[in-house]
Amino acid sequence: MTEISTFAQAPLDSVGVADDAHWTDGAPHELFRRLRRECPVHWSAGIAQSPQDAGFWSVTSAELIQQVSRDWETYSSATNFVLNDHLVPMFLVQGMFIGMDPPKHDRIKVLFQRGFTPKRIAEHEDMIREITTGVLDAIEQRETCDLVTDVAQPVVSRVIGRFMGLAPEDDIVWATNINRMLGFGDPDLNPGGIESLIAELLPPMFTGCMELVAARRANPTDDLLSTLIFAEIDGDKLTDEEIFAGFVLLMAAGNDSTKATYTSCMRALMDHPDQRQKLIDDPSLIPSAVEEALRMFPAFAHFRRTATNDTELGGCAIKKGDKVAMWYPASNRDETVYENPDVFDVTRNPEHQAFGAGGRHFCLGTALARLELRILVEETLHRFPEMSIAAEPTWVLAQFSSQLKTLPVRLYG
Ligand code: HEM
Repeated sequence: MTEISTFAQAPLDSVGVADDAHWTDGAPHELFRRLRRECPVHWSAGIAQSPQDAGFWSVTSAELIQQVSRDWETYSSATNFVLNDHLVPMFLVQGMFIGMDPPKHDRIKVLFQRGFTPKRIAEHEDMIREITTGVLDAIEQRETCDLVTDVAQPVVSRVIGRFMGLAPEDDIVWATNINRMLGFGDPDLNPGGIESLIAELLPPMFTGCMELVAARRANPTDDLLSTLIFAEIDGDKLTDEEIFAGFVLLMAAGNDSTKATYTSCMRALMDHPDQRQKLIDDPSLIPSAVEEALRMFPAFAHFRRTATNDTELGGCAIKKGDKVAMWYPASNRDETVYENPDVFDVTRNPEHQAFGAGGRHFCLGTALARLELRILVEETLHRFPEMSIAAEPTWVLAQFSSQLKTLPVRLYG
């Protein structure tokens, strides 16, 4: 209600879409509804909590986001892929293939694509189910737990840890580092503030990654880190900085995204017991419920592009160098695409833009994410069909990675 009263009358040209004030309780759906209707390409003059960052365009309709996403020549990823330009050093941002344009982007991505097809990913089903049931076994004797820290985090970090070839005892350290990096603006996750990422967080991460790299250079393995280390792009090996960037990209993409979608999905199921009952009665609906959770609660609130020349979008004049944010929580509730977009309907099985809008950077991990999410929801509902919310969940204060910080539950209703 606060949101509605704040935005119903406010002139849109004075709104800063990425200002913290709009994001304390997750994505600002009321503001996005108004933007889609009145101003689907909107200019924000800056970011209140990050005055050094320039203004930017917000795109909120599904059709216009698709237009931006598919036109990499006009809307480049190579400057940066998030709105904040002062988070981490540019070598890290631009060393990740998500921060590159073709041809280099395509040459690095292709190294991984064969291992991420639905068929190859399906081979990991038993491993993922074993990890999930092991984590659920560990909480079974308890009455309450936090689904974010006690279930989602250990499962997703072990799964990506297996793909990267990491030791299980290191999962928590890497997960905490990645949570801090993606939750950079949240005082609980990153108490030191943005400056602390470069000063305190990155040096030990780089050193830890280089220890793993040295071990693999001595004894090659068949994990994703070795893929980065031994890759040859146009006859050249990746530099240590580029290997580190690739490592951080895969760890970040694999950790927080699936965790975010699983916890939001479980929250919605507990908030809507009729929908949960449908899944308990007919578990074949779970993949559809996963797509609905991806649609309603996309794990990444935005990806950014930068205009390579003067252009026009939705009637607005975009200048060369302007930042353009594609807001997926907005496009996934576009009322020209979805009937009753704010209703969580496990039978909807929607198409959506949670994995991107069909452009070059479309998510590499879709098959893995879908498999993990299906198994997590199946096993949780099977083991704890009466689970209920024990206290008000909280959101990470973030405009990039959009996720719950806490989801306290009673395991047996
Ligand atoms: C619910 C889970 C996930 C969601 C919602 C998600 C979403 C996304 C989105 C929105 C993008 C950028 C699309 C664009 O800019 O056009 C992306 C890219 C990417 N995702 Fe995911 N992702 C998920 C899980 C994963 C997992 C499990 C991995 C596994 C490693 C992964 C790896 C990647 C990579 C490597 C990229 C960069 C692709 C490129 O630049 O071409 N993602 N993801």
